Amino acid sequence: MNIKMPLKLLYEGKVKLLLPDRAILGEEAEKAVFYNPFMSFSRDLSICVLKAYANVTGKKGLRVAEPLTASGVRGIRYAKEVDEVDEVVLSDVNPVAVRIARINALLNKVHEKVVVKLSNANSLLSRYDAKGKRFDFVDIDPFGSPAPYVDSAIRSTILGGVIALTATDMPPLCGVYPRVALRRYGGLSLKTEYCHELAVRLVLGLLCRETGKYELSIKPLIAHSTRHYIRVFVQLTPSKEGSENIGLIYHCRNCLHRRIVKLEDLASTKSLCEKCCSPMEAAGPLWIGPIFDKTFCEEVARVASSLDLLNKKELKKILKLITSEADGPPTFYTVDALSHKYKLRQPKIQELVEKLRSQGFHASPTHFNPKGFRFSGDVEDIVKLLAR
Ligand SMILES: C[S@@+](CC[C@H](N)C(=O)[O-])C[C@H]1O[C@@H](n2cnc3c(N)ncnc32)[C@H](O)[C@@H]1O
Ligand SMILES: [Zn+2]
Repeated sequence: MNIKMPLKLLYEGKVKLLLPDRAILGEEAEKAVFYNPFMSFSRDLSICVLKAYANVTGKKGLRVAEPLTASGVRGIRYAKEVDEVDEVVLSDVNPVAVRIARINALLNKVHEKVVVKLSNANSLLSRYDAKGKRFDFVDIDPFGSPAPYVDSAIRSTILGGVIALTATDMPPLCGVYPRVALRRYGGLSLKTEYCHELAVRLVLGLLCRETGKYELSIKPLIAHSTRHYIRVFVQLTPSKEGSENIGLIYHCRNCLHRRIVKLEDLASTKSLCEKCCSPMEAAGPLWIGPIFDKTFCEEVARVASSLDLLNKKELKKILKLITSEADGPPTFYTVDALSHKYKLRQPKIQELVEKLRSQGFHASPTHFNPKGFRFSGDVEDIVKLLAR
């Protein structure tokens, strides 16, 4: 393998990586092979998810695909750090990335488990879409939107297997360009204090509709929003009832009330807010069902505590928040938006959550926003409580 560019060696946890030396190559290195050290958090969490999946299913001999691999770091880590993984198939359209990923697989002594192909992600996955060839875990980690790869990811994943998707196209998903979200994800985004949760729900909505074509559905296992991206992990299920979880989320900018409506009940819903009679705005169609499986999230948290990972502290913190919000209702409030709207004092989240719980409500902080909380009552209930 002959690579005519200056290379450097670095580590992500215990994984050695040979990469084009950016200091020498300048901008060219970015184009040559992508590697973002900040995404080690996403990779750490994904390792925990795959291990948790192996633990809860008792499966061994797992087969994994990561068809947009760049340096190979993600797939190599699956091969090296998850004992239950037997085979990892990686690909990239960039020939330099493919060569670098092959070298990295050799460097980490996982070359017998890891295959790296020069291929477009969709072509690669399509080669594995027949029964008996499909993967247990397909990880789509692209630049921007995962939407172009969703269909082939579904076709190449076994029933009961897991699809992981990253989306970094946050302006469309968070309501800056709602029509772009409609085009890519089949639903309108909406700029609100909980827009990152809506982003997760739009991606899940797309997955649900695309699996529906094959008489399948999804069970969301865990999702997170971190820095500039969101990530979802879903299990493929045989259910034909997925469309029950598709709907719209209405938002009132005047009083902050929200209404969640199943798509099939849309004809009977009003466009005015039932609390203050102002016109409401809508996000969707999107996924209105649960976005976390609490038991699974608890297992991921247990795995994270047991491993020696680079981002252990941050992981434990986020997984604690995710576990606490997993059973909460859709959408969350923020003390910022409430205090601003109702001219109220800003309480500490933990104090507010405890107060709400003591009154019999479900309440929890959320990992989506340090000033956010999920709450089973109405906006009026919080306002009354904060006004005291
Ligand atoms: C965000 S990077 C992947 C990062 C990697 N997953 C990680 O964890 O470090 C996206 C990669 O996808 C590759 N790519 C872009 N379009 C592709 C396609 N259609 N099929 C396969 N690879 C593609 C790019 O060359 C780039 O290396
Ligand atoms: Zn209202």
